[in-house]
Amino acid sequence: MKNNIILAIILLLTIISNVDAKEHNIPTKKGILLVAFGSSIPKAQETFLQIDKKVKDTFPSIEVRWAYTSSIIREKLAKEGKKLDSVELALAKMMDDKFTHIVIQSLHTICGEEFHDLVQTINAFKSMPGSFNKILLGPPLLYNDEDMTNVSEAILKIIPKDRKKDDAVILMGHGTPHPSNTAYAALMYHLQKEDSNIYVATVEGTPTIYDVKDILIEKKITKSYLMPFMAVAGDHALNDMAGDNNESWKMILGKSNISCVPILKGTAEYEELLKIWINHLKDVFKKL
Ligand code: CO
Repeated sequence: MKNNIILAIILLLTIISNVDAKEHNIPTKKGILLVAFGSSIPKAQETFLQIDKKVKDTFPSIEVRWAYTSSIIREKLAKEGKKLDSVELALAKMMDDKFTHIVIQSLHTICGEEFHDLVQTINAFKSMPGSFNKILLGPPLLYNDEDMTNVSEAILKIIPKDRKKDDAVILMGHGTPHPSNTAYAALMYHLQKEDSNIYVATVEGTPTIYDVKDILIEKKITKSYLMPFMAVAGDHALNDMAGDNNESWKMILGKSNISCVPILKGTAEYEELLKIWINHLKDVFKKL
């Protein structure tokens, strides 16, 4: 009996000392990993630099790294000699470089597929031997109801000043078959409480541009501002929104005699909206 107690104490001390080794023997090294879908458009690269600067200004003593979730974009950039890491590779490198505490900040817009993939990747890393002491995830732009309010307030501020009340404003969301696609309609509800001529349509989900077009025709609206509701004005903004091809939003609306003013600026280019991502990062970083 006595021997058993001694054994139990020895076992307990061994466990405690192991925990201690994990927590204390390696010096604390905090880092931030920014994760975006990515873009190969040069102007979008400038936006990423802008985000990078803002994050580094906010966290001057913390190393900031990047990963792109889109493998197509990464391959495209690699051919131009620009090496961008996947999330998995970026995390493996950070593990190797002895980071102990990291925050991954999603630069996505909604909690879609890409965001949920991030959650899974983080969980896989958490269970890896020799992994980080702490790994936290900062949510995308539209995460909860507070974000809905903040994002809609920010959008109302960035609408071009020369736009008249009768002109429509259509935000171009990406859209997804993922259940989180409902965020776009929810945002439209919030916006329309303040201004009934602001719409949200998506490229790959609902509402579609045809849904919005029908409403504009019914309301006899003849002019519309088109604004990307994506972090950067990349391929979708340039081609699907403002392009001269038959299927672009500008052309689809044009055929119904609705003239369009495309604004080629991503949401992360506006201080008001970038601030929301940064605040998410700040909130999570406090818990690191
Ligand atoms: Co896309």
